[in-house]
This record gives sequence, C-alpha cells and structure tokens, in this order.
Amino acid sequence: MTGRILLTGGAGYIGSHTYAALSEAGYEVEILDNFSNARLDVPDRLEMITGRPVTVHRCDVLDPEGLARVFASNRFDGVVHFAAKKAVGESQKIPLDYIETNCTGLVNLMKAMRAAGCFRLVFSSSATVYAPTLDWPIPEEAALGYASTYALTKLMGEQIIRATAEGDPRWRFGILRYFNPAGAHPSALIGEDPSDIPNNLMPYIAKVATGELPYLNVFGDDYPTPDGTGVRDYIHVVDLARGHVLSLDALMRGDESHIVNLGTGQGYSVMDMLKAYERACGKPLPHRVAPRREGDLACYYGDPAKAKTLLGFQAERGLEDMCQTSWAWVSRASNSRQG
Ligand code: UFG
Repeated sequence: MTGRILLTGGAGYIGSHTYAALSEAGYEVEILDNFSNARLDVPDRLEMITGRPVTVHRCDVLDPEGLARVFASNRFDGVVHFAAKKAVGESQKIPLDYIETNCTGLVNLMKAMRAAGCFRLVFSSSATVYAPTLDWPIPEEAALGYASTYALTKLMGEQIIRATAEGDPRWRFGILRYFNPAGAHPSALIGEDPSDIPNNLMPYIAKVATGELPYLNVFGDDYPTPDGTGVRDYIHVVDLARGHVLSLDALMRGDESHIVNLGTGQGYSVMDMLKAYERACGKPLPHRVAPRREGDLACYYGDPAKAKTLLGFQAERGLEDMCQTSWAWVSRASNSRQG
C-alpha cells in the first residue's frame, strides 16, 4: 500500500518498529515526537534500517500550533498515534499529567487532522482497558474497566475516537489493544531502552542480563498457574508493528473501523520468560521470589481471532525470538544510551 503517514511517538519503542514496518510496506512515513522518552539517535538508526532519509517533526501533542504547522507541511493520508505516557505506577502519582498528554493530546491531534482533512487514525490502545477477568482468552467484546489512571486514559482515548466517528462519518479508525510487547528489531539497531529502572518484566530481565541490575524480583510464586508465577501474552514487537501496517492497510482500502486485540493468544509465565532469556544470553540470571505486586492478575491473555479474521494478522515470532533479539539489542555496546 502507498500513502503518507504521520507517526506520533515514532521514535519510541513500538513507534520505531512500526516506522520500519510501514516503510518496508511502501508507505512514506514522517515522525512526530517530543523525545521526552525516546533516544535522540533513533531517526539515524531508522535511516540505517530503511536506507532512506527520515523526516522528524520535533513537536508535542500538547502544542496545537505546532501540530497545525506539521499538518500544513504535508498532506497526510493517515496517522498512527503512539505519543503518550505509559507507566502505570507513575500514572497514579501524576494523574492529571497522564490525562492531559494522553487525552488532551489525542483531542489536539484529531482537531489538527480534521482541519487538514485527514480522517484515518490508528490508535495505540492497551489490553489494560479490559475489566479484570478470570475468563481467558479475552475477546474484544469483554467488559471494559480500569484499575489505573493510565488504563483510564486509554479507555477515554478509545471513547473519544468512537464518539467522534459516530458524530462525523468521515472518520475511520483502528483501535489496537496490545498485550505485552517484547523483543527488538532483528538489526539490533532499535529496541526498548527505558532510561529508569523498568517496571515491566522484559526490560527488567534484560538489565539483569547486562549486569545493570543484580537480580529479578519474581512478584509472587503462589498464583493458580502451572508454576505459580504470573502468566501474560507476550507479543514480539516486530509482529506488533506489522499489526499496525495491516490496520492501516484496512483503513486505506476503505474498510470499516475496527477494534482488535494484538496478542498471540498464548500465555507464558514469569519463569518461562526468565528461562528463555537465560537460554538466549547463555548464563543463569539471579532471581528472588518477592511478594505479589498490588493489582496484578494471575493470568492475562488475549483472543487473537478477530485480528486474524478482520486484518489477516497472526503473530509469527515466539518466545525464543523475543529473548534473542532483546539480548542482541541490549548486549551491543554501541547501543548503550547516549541521548
Ligand atoms: N513481573 C515480575 N517482576 C518484575 C516485573 C514484572 O515478576 O520485576 C511480573 C508481573 O507480576 C506479571 C508479569 O511479570 O506477572 C508481567 O508484568 P509487566 O509489568 O511486564 O506487565 P503487565 O502485564 O503487568 O502490564 C502490561 C503493560 C501495561 C498494561 C498491562 C495490561 O506493561 O502497560 O500489561 O495490558 F497496562
């Protein structure tokens, strides 16, 4: 498919992988990012991966004039919107900042799109919008709810988009609910790079593997799961990126708006992940069992059937690939953070 796409948050973890995937699929892509949580060298690295110059608009979604300038600079056929805050714990401490960036930022973006006559939007949502459930795998029709301000902002984002499209039929949207992204690009030039101590499992294990952190805390080993540790639906970030391409392809074809899970439908435990990472890095990784983390569920994985039927999406990469590419990325000395 061809078309010019604006990728907000395109220098971030999932955004940069989606840039590579969209570019490979034939789209002309431009990045909008304020680099508040992204490495400054990501555009250079994307140039190495794609072999083409990368256009970057350094802009904040909270800056309506800046957004208007970006939309005046070119005609965009669609937008993939990643730019948002994403740390669940932080969202509880600074809720208004999360609501402002994630909700007001979305409204600003959609107003700028409407003014420019651009009505195709792919939105980065999260499986966190589902109400806690004991019924897996989770289909898109499952009850919604929120247990953190972060989750609230994603749920509100979905509702803002749906309400806008109900009122104005020119809009077409793809809402993508991600499960747990993991892994890195096969080039080892881009990957997840938290500047702080990570909250999530995979980047935490990666830092134990590089020696930056001494051991992994396994949050609970007495859950009703096969090995007692929490089970999640880890999806390779390269697969996740391809899901965005397929969602956008559907909108470009003129298909209806859609809301789909992007996951594998396969659950792995904390110990499964740790052991797979040990195999990838070739050494034992120290870990200690710690108390359960507040708010965690024993098990959480998605039903991937709708994404397959509607978009032809199916995750192809497994646990070994997630751990091997993550290790290739974090163990490469030239990848240590400069920005
Ligand atoms: N875990 C540990 N030790 C750690 C970190 C995590 O044992 O240091 C465990 C957790 O208890 C859980 C599993 O690893 O069982 C995964 O935890 P993550 O924090 O990596 O992921 P979550 O499933 O809790 O959260 C993810 C995303 C959120 C999103 C949520 C629901 O990070 O953004 O899925 O979709 F909201």
